[in-house]
Amino acid sequence: MTANGMLHDAPERALRSLFVGLSHRRSLGRLAVNVPVTRPMVGRFVAGETLPEVLESLERLRGAGFMTTVDVLGESVASAEECGSAAGRYEETLGALADRGLDRNVSLKLTQMGLDISRDVCLETVARVMRAAAALGAFVRVDMEEHSKTDRTLAIWRELRPINPETGVVIQAALRRSGADIEALIAEGARVRLCKGAYNEPASVAFRAREEVDASYETLARRLLRDGAYPALATHDGRLIGRLLRFVDAEGIPPERYEFQMLYGVRRDLQAELLRRGQRVRVYVPYGTEWYPYFMRRLAEKPANVTFLLRSLLKEGRGPAA
Ligand code: FDA
Repeated sequence: MTANGMLHDAPERALRSLFVGLSHRRSLGRLAVNVPVTRPMVGRFVAGETLPEVLESLERLRGAGFMTTVDVLGESVASAEECGSAAGRYEETLGALADRGLDRNVSLKLTQMGLDISRDVCLETVARVMRAAAALGAFVRVDMEEHSKTDRTLAIWRELRPINPETGVVIQAALRRSGADIEALIAEGARVRLCKGAYNEPASVAFRAREEVDASYETLARRLLRDGAYPALATHDGRLIGRLLRFVDAEGIPPERYEFQMLYGVRRDLQAELLRRGQRVRVYVPYGTEWYPYFMRRLAEKPANVTFLLRSLLKEGRGPAA
């Protein structure tokens, strides 16, 4: 890590910590939902609040040649009743995907399914979604949250995997433990999505410098590309993607053996370019009313997003331009 890199990283990390911290403040979420100026910005990252809205976006993406996975937004639920409604929304979504002939592929977070309530509630709720998915031949990806939940997430995913073998997990390159997790998952023939990691983790468990995270990502991605079961490379980092494309080329790994994944509304130019180059690209499409924590993490990822939002808020405060 160069001295220069450190100087660059520090303000970015502070901003990231601030926004990831704010993502946990539910009261602010309720406020943000009611500020009209945030809406267009939210619309860039979230495909809609209702099922018909997301179905329209999914059809558009399919028409353009993209694969998709749907996230029914929600996390950190506090009651078994909320878990039941979350499972119900996933069942409804899966049914609609099947009816419309869209990609039967969803992503979910265990805290939306009761991980913070109890292991049993969580198991029962996710099992319900897994059964609905299995009946439709649908794929379920279990997203990864903060490092304090990694062990529990992997354990629950492993326990439920027999219900629906069409399933996979997520590993975060930022975590120091991820090399060992990847080895275990490769040995189990597990489907892994590799991302950098969206949470603000302490240095004791995570790489904090951008260069270290990127180096870890590249090492783990190469490992998965060589021996993993159809890995999903989730990143918008053009330079990293360029290096991975050179790697698959040199190793003779065909594009059917892996896929790239990117978030709805992020680097649409790169998404299209990869398609043009014959790569498989899956877009992660979130929808629902509970968009606040997801949206705040997207702001945290890119300082320019925050500047843009603050400028819009100031403009709104001044009223319409003359
Ligand atoms: P990096 O942050 O270096 O960004 C590279 C470039 O991409 C930036 O320079 C910018 O141009 C663009 N970019 C990235 N984020 C942007 C944004 N929000 N707005 C505008 N431009 C942006 N994390 C996690 O902890 N658990 C999970 O389960 C998942 N799941 C997941 C699924 C998919 C499909 C993706 C693509 C990502 C995730 N993530 C995730 C998020 C991931 O950990 C990470 O926070 C973001 O992808 C940003 O990191 P990049 O790899 O894009 O690199």
